[in-house]
Amino acid sequence: MNERRTGGRARLLLGGACAVLIAVSSVAVATVARADLAGPPGTTLKAAAERSGRYFGAAMGGDRLSDQGFLTIANREFDMMTAVNEMKPDATEPNRGQFDFRAGDAIYNWATQHALRVRGHTLAWHAQQPRFWGSLSGSALRTAMIDHINGVMAHYRGKLYAWDVVNEAFAENGSRRSSNLQSTGNDWIEVAFRTARAADPSVKLCYNDYNIENWTYAKTQGVYTMIRDFKSRGVPIDCVGLQTHFTGGSSLPGNFQTTLSSFAALGVDVALTEADVTNASATQYAGLTQACMNVPRCVGITTWGIRDSDSWRGNESPLLFDRNSNPKAAYTSVLNALNAASTTVPGTSTPPPSTPGSTPPSTPGSTPPSTPGSTPGSTPPSTPPVTGSPGACTATYHLTNSWSGGFQGEVTVANTGPTTIEGWTVQLTLAGGQTIANVWNGINTGTSGTVSVRNAAYNGSLGANASTSFGFLVNGSSSTAPASVSCTSP
Ligand code: G3I
Repeated sequence: MNERRTGGRARLLLGGACAVLIAVSSVAVATVARADLAGPPGTTLKAAAERSGRYFGAAMGGDRLSDQGFLTIANREFDMMTAVNEMKPDATEPNRGQFDFRAGDAIYNWATQHALRVRGHTLAWHAQQPRFWGSLSGSALRTAMIDHINGVMAHYRGKLYAWDVVNEAFAENGSRRSSNLQSTGNDWIEVAFRTARAADPSVKLCYNDYNIENWTYAKTQGVYTMIRDFKSRGVPIDCVGLQTHFTGGSSLPGNFQTTLSSFAALGVDVALTEADVTNASATQYAGLTQACMNVPRCVGITTWGIRDSDSWRGNESPLLFDRNSNPKAAYTSVLNALNAASTTVPGTSTPPPSTPGSTPPSTPGSTPPSTPGSTPGSTPPSTPPVTGSPGACTATYHLTNSWSGGFQGEVTVANTGPTTIEGWTVQLTLAGGQTIANVWNGINTGTSGTVSVRNAAYNGSLGANASTSFGFLVNGSSSTAPASVSCTSP
């Protein structure tokens, strides 16, 4: 990339099934007073973002997996991760049909083992293509792109929060960027999205670009027009990623919130996916964060690295932490803006208040992993909750989302005893033909039939009347609720 940037997740008290249902399936509070945000102000980026149902993410290269300084901050402050280069086409399919997920999986494994969710970046792009794409054109290249999307998405099916399906496909003047992919025909982007939806209906599908932050900029309008067209024709797309590189001379435009709300009004989520700001201007960081917090469907912010030493433009010192891992003034400005959010994300349930002085649990899966727009009528959780209570804890199951070929469930685990429990195990008996693809906020044994899910490291300790929850994705032809759900604690 040499172009210059020119514009720039309830505490569920055990008060009965009814109350639980309401809390879990709570739909969108579009605008809330600050006092309605969950819990006390967050003291970490993720805790502050989660109060309004949002995430705070970072990007990391594989080399950071051996960088304890980086990992410490990533684990403490962030609940979403993007691989800088390791999930790009050249990394995942170096030779035709030979997929290599080792580098991407290493990042995915670290992230999910530390309760961060993962954004996939990226599937189709003019840059960092497999070498063999260079000798292809026309229908052969189109087929290679489709095969690539299918191959990569099959590997990560049900595991990711979102995919940047197509990256940077527009030129600065608002027309399509000329590229080998563009030369396969103007429909290459929608083909990529249709392929992606079929390959993994559980993941959000995003278009991602830079210099689309200024509402009056031609490129912003070009992308907006394409998204509007896609939504009007039913091309499956769930989100727009605005990279938000206010670096290399660009700065935060005054109309950034207008841009975010305009895209969101088309019926897509918006996210700031690669944020960095020259010299980490606290004013600009506060402004970009406030803009997102003011737009209900702005679901989260990701910075492109954590410390300046992680940045692709480290000489501009554009990130929230300095080279010595110290938070900058910009960090405080972002934290304050997150805590002052004026909207919550529709469809999210906010997390239990974090315990003051402890590291708050992060909340992978607090946002449904997709809003499968291609499956009308797929959302209402109409099945009654299934509750069992053989031990001091109870487990209550809810359907939170469903689509053709799968569904997302959530189990609320509550301590009904008078004393704190240290650890819990839930047993779920799935219907025939159902297989668990992913579990968050819990560790599963087995994926079909009777599945056991025990607490994660951070949510096993439950005080009297306290509760927590875990979520899971299931592949299967029906969303029939588990035949039984039970909880035991030591
Ligand atoms: O791994 C090789 C190394 O073996 C070799 O010695 C070295 C020599 O230059 O190159 C290394 O590869 C570099 C790679 O980053 C890993 O550091 C590539 O040259 C370099 O081109 C590549 O740059 C990446 C860039 O995307 C490529 O377009 C940056 O790390 C990455 O931060 C950047 O990320 C992009 C997003 O994907 C899209 N939006 C813009 C963003 C910033 O440019």
